Amino acid sequence: MEYILDTANVSDIKYMNEYFPIAGVTTNPSIIAKEKTDFYGLVGSIRNIIGNEKMLHIQTTQKTAEKIVEEAEVLAKKVGGNLYIKIPVCDEGLKAASMLKRSGLNVGVTMTAIFTPQQALISAMAGADYVAPYVNRLDSISADGVGVVADIVTLFQNFDVKCKVLAASFKNVQQINDVALVGCHSVTANAELLKAAISHPMTDKAIQGFDADWQSVYGSSTILDF
Ligand code: G3P
Repeated sequence: MEYILDTANVSDIKYMNEYFPIAGVTTNPSIIAKEKTDFYGLVGSIRNIIGNEKMLHIQTTQKTAEKIVEEAEVLAKKVGGNLYIKIPVCDEGLKAASMLKRSGLNVGVTMTAIFTPQQALISAMAGADYVAPYVNRLDSISADGVGVVADIVTLFQNFDVKCKVLAASFKNVQQINDVALVGCHSVTANAELLKAAISHPMTDKAIQGFDADWQSVYGSSTILDF
């Protein structure tokens, strides 16, 4: 399972990159705009923090396949590293994915804004490396976000498709666990949610108990003091 951080907030990225086993960072225009700062300064800082090995997903702002490819070429040059171009699924996006794959440019393709299994399968056929279904946005309209992810995983298994499922748009830890249970390869979530995923009051209580029992015999000494 790949855990990816869905934010462009530099202090969250610094913290999570140090403490959590994140495989990279995903962004989109809304996430970038939230930081209200210079675009290349921001993505450059993110690349510096996570290094060249970890994935950085940056979404295109263009609407035609040719312009999407042009933007990908500029991003590859200016940002570099392990870079994925996020493209919303649509006719031009599918064409751009195929063009990028044929171009030999050293970038991956993440087809995003996926809401149905067929959008995902067709994106994979066009050459996408990842597809990003939006779980909570489906749940919010009384659809079944986890069910859609499960169907995509099944379709990819049925046809031995190498494309990975990168589920996004989470509002709670249960959704993350549910997509993991159906075999989703990757999830992207914000820092608050990933921290919540390892938090449990019984864990805090257990740690307090260990400390109290140790201190009752050894006081403030630690193993390093013996
Ligand atoms: O990566 C896509 C994701 O950020 C969408 O999440 O919370 O805007 O539905 P949300």
